[in-house]
Amino acid sequence: MVKTKKLREPLEDRKGSLFFDGVSVKELAQKYDTPLYVVSEKRIRDNYNRIYDALIRNYKYVRLYYAAKANSNLAVLKILQSQGAYLDTVSPGEVFMGLLSGYTQDRIMFTGTSVRNDELKVLADANVTINIDSQSELDRLLKIAVPPIVSVRINPEIGAGHHSHCITAGPDSKFGLWAEEAIQAYAIAKRARVERFGIHMHIGSGILEVEPYVLAIDKLLSIAKRIHEEVGIEFEFIDIGGGFGVPYKPEDKEFDLLEFANKVVAPFKAKVAEYGLGKPFLCIEPGRYLVCDASILLTEVNTVKVTPSKKFIGVDAGFNTLVRPTMYGSYHPILVANKLGVANKETYDVVGPICESGDALAKDREMPAIEEGDLLAVLNAGAYGFSMSSQYNSRPRAAEVLIRQGKSFLIREREQLNNLTANQRAAD
Ligand code: LLP
Repeated sequence: MVKTKKLREPLEDRKGSLFFDGVSVKELAQKYDTPLYVVSEKRIRDNYNRIYDALIRNYKYVRLYYAAKANSNLAVLKILQSQGAYLDTVSPGEVFMGLLSGYTQDRIMFTGTSVRNDELKVLADANVTINIDSQSELDRLLKIAVPPIVSVRINPEIGAGHHSHCITAGPDSKFGLWAEEAIQAYAIAKRARVERFGIHMHIGSGILEVEPYVLAIDKLLSIAKRIHEEVGIEFEFIDIGGGFGVPYKPEDKEFDLLEFANKVVAPFKAKVAEYGLGKPFLCIEPGRYLVCDASILLTEVNTVKVTPSKKFIGVDAGFNTLVRPTMYGSYHPILVANKLGVANKETYDVVGPICESGDALAKDREMPAIEEGDLLAVLNAGAYGFSMSSQYNSRPRAAEVLIRQGKSFLIREREQLNNLTANQRAAD
């Protein structure tokens, strides 16, 4: 029986077949082969507009930095640049790709950790805004150059995130400076004749509740007030980081942007006025929120294997292609692209071609009866999907395709065998 089910945008069920942003995924798999990442330009732009509108609702001076690490394909960087985004980067490589994609220096922020001296030199020469992650980094930067603007990443001692690996503040975190040390850092920067300042935090990733932001921003603003009073500096911007979650599991709820506007942005405006902090830009750095549900991963079933205890579906994407389920135990919804209306009948582990038992995209997943040749769509694959993929087991990386106004464009060629050996040299 084929029935039509309501799927969320840009997914569509057309008589049992999956369409993504108006394009048949079966045709995409035939044209470009699998595994294949498919990105919807429209969904990225819609996501940008939705979160930007919430940000600007209760405060006028805002900036949205796209966290490039979520998906650093040049096409994605350019889409967000044309949308008006600034760019959050963590390596000289991301700065390089940002500049190449049209972000000007004044629109690029660098928030690194364990930064080398030669990297600091590249960043100072590139004249991007540097967020300092340690006293050591500030001391070494000031020996290389006195930048026009300095920002310090604060550990507000409150973290949150979907997995312990993704909590980036709090007592166990390697990131940022604690309050007392931060005050010292600003004083040192001021003595070195730095003239402009910002302040930053990023508490974690995959946060679905507004509450952790409320608590952490409260702490950040109280630290900013102390710095303003004790060191005597003004802040041009206050950056509260990224981390806004998206629903992956069926029971997950959406991040409540209206609640964010009312419980974070509005009190932010009131507090900066109360603390005499002027009118700093309120900056956010979303990665996942902008690109996660704007992309799916297509993978074909090559093996159906039944053991006395389990049923396995073998597909052509493993943790070399999408590492999140293996690395964080993350749940990704999976649709059988050619059997959308078909009822779930079986329970499968969806496993890849990597020779490790942790190589599973899903475990104990209820699905329709699967046959070899079926096409699976792994949803919410756009954030930390391709960008965390590898050549492990000597498998060339997947291709990426962009859907723009109903047409597909290859935005990253599928790697070939010669990509595996490109940088290697024989020892003799
Ligand atoms: N800003 C900074 C300084 C960050 O370190 C990050 C992410 C972001 C912004 C963006 O966070 P988002 O809005 O995307 O949550 N690989 C993990 C996520 C690691 C995030 C690391 N930092 C995952 O796949 O869930």
